Amino acid sequence: MKLSKFGQQLTPDSGIVNLMADLGNALNVNPDILFLGGGNPAQIPEFENIIAEQLQQIAQTPAELHKLIGIYQSPQGAENFISALATYLQDECGWPVTEDNIAVTNGSQSAFFILLNMLAGEHANNAERPDEQGQTVHKKIMFPLVPEYLGYSDQALAEHYFAGVKPKIELQGEHFFKYKIDFDALTIDPSVAALCVSRPTNPTGNMVSEAELSQLSDLAKQHQIPLIIDCAYGEPFPGIVYQESHYQWQDEHILVLSLSKLGLPAVRTGIVIAKPEVVKNVVKANTIMSLANGNLGPELMTRLLDQGLVSKISKTILQPFYQKKCDYFISELINALKGVPFRFHQPEGAFFIWLWLEGLPVHSSVLYQNLKNEGVLVMDGEPFFFALPDEWPHKHECLRLSYCQSETVLSQAAGILGREIKKLYPSGLTEKI
Ligand SMILES: Cc1ncc(COP(=O)(O)O)c(C=O)c1O
Repeated sequence: MKLSKFGQQLTPDSGIVNLMADLGNALNVNPDILFLGGGNPAQIPEFENIIAEQLQQIAQTPAELHKLIGIYQSPQGAENFISALATYLQDECGWPVTEDNIAVTNGSQSAFFILLNMLAGEHANNAERPDEQGQTVHKKIMFPLVPEYLGYSDQALAEHYFAGVKPKIELQGEHFFKYKIDFDALTIDPSVAALCVSRPTNPTGNMVSEAELSQLSDLAKQHQIPLIIDCAYGEPFPGIVYQESHYQWQDEHILVLSLSKLGLPAVRTGIVIAKPEVVKNVVKANTIMSLANGNLGPELMTRLLDQGLVSKISKTILQPFYQKKCDYFISELINALKGVPFRFHQPEGAFFIWLWLEGLPVHSSVLYQNLKNEGVLVMDGEPFFFALPDEWPHKHECLRLSYCQSETVLSQAAGILGREIKKLYPSGLTEKI
C-alpha cells in the first residue's frame, strides 16, 4: 500500500503506540508483569460501586437505556451533560462559563489531535506586503516546561510542530527536586501558535505553580495566543492534586479535561472548555472525524453531577487513595535505592513518580529494557523530552513509574528496580554512598 503524506505521518514507530501496546499486553494479555508503565488509572472499588449503581438504574429504565445505546449524540455533546457541567463549573468553581464554552470529544487525546493541528502547522500569511501575500507561514506549539506528555508528540501532521524550554532544576532536600519554568529562555515570536502545559504534568507530577500559570496567562494575553492547559489529572476533576490550588478559567485558556483518570478510561470522554469560537471549531472538526461522541461517559457524568457526587469522589475517594499509594511507593523506593544517587520530582499530583538517576552509567532506554526483561514495565523518560532537540544528559537519566498497582506489586517492583539499578554502578560507588 502506498501511503500519502498523512498516512506516513500517522504510521511510523511512535512513543504513544509503543506505550499503549505495552499497556495492552500487561493489562489484558500478560497480567504477571509488574505494571508501572502507561497511564491507566487504578481500580478503586468504592468508585466502581458508584458506577455499577448508575448502570443498573439505566439498564432498568427502557427510555434511559435507549437514550444511552440507541441515539446519536448532538455534535457539541449531550445537552443534559453540557448543562449540568456548566452549572457545576459556575457554582463549584466560580468560573464565568456557559454551555457555549463546552465541547465534548471522544477522549481528550482526540481533542488534542484537533486542537494541536488546528493551531500549529501551515497558516496563510496575512502579510500586507504584496510580494509576501499568498505565501504560508509555519506555526508551532510551545511547551514552556519540558518534559511533557509524550502523547502530544506524534499527533503533529507535519514536521517542526513543537518547541520547548529546558526547565530550571531546583534541588529540594536529600531526595527531591522540582522543575521550574525558565521564563528568561521562553521566547514567544510570531511563529508560536499556542502555549501548552499539562497540570499536574504527565510525566513528572509537577504542578506548574499559580505564579507561573499567571505569568503564562499574561504572556498568552499579550501575544494574543491561547494557553492550553491539560487537566487530565487535575482540577476540577479528577482532582489528583496534593496541594491547595485555586485555578480560575480565563478567556484565553483552552482547558482540556477527561473522564479517564476519574476511573473511566474506557468510556473515552474528553471535554474542551474554551471561548465559543474555539468550541464551535472543535465541534465541527470532531463531527467530521467521529460523527458523534459515545454516550456512556456523558451519561454517567451527568448522573454524578446531578447527584452532587463529583467533588466527593475527587476529594474523599481518589485524592486520599493516590496520596497513600504515592507515600508508600516513595518509602519503598528510598529503601530499595540506598547506595545510588537518586532524586524524585516533588510528587504534587497525577499518579507518577519521576525518578532522576543523575550520572546513570547507561541510557535510560537500556534500563527500561533491563527492567522489562526482569518483568517490570516502566516508562523510559527520554521520549517525554520530544520538544527539546538539544543534547542534555538529564534527558536519558529519568524513568516514569506509575503507582496505580497494589502495594504488593509496588513493593516487588521497587525491589527489582533497586537491584537492576545498582548493577549498573561500579560497586565502589554504591559502597561509598
Ligand atoms: C496528560 C494527558 N493528557 C491527555 C491524555 C489522554 O487521555 P484520554 O484520551 O484518555 O482522555 C493523557 C492520557 O494518559 C494524559 O496523560
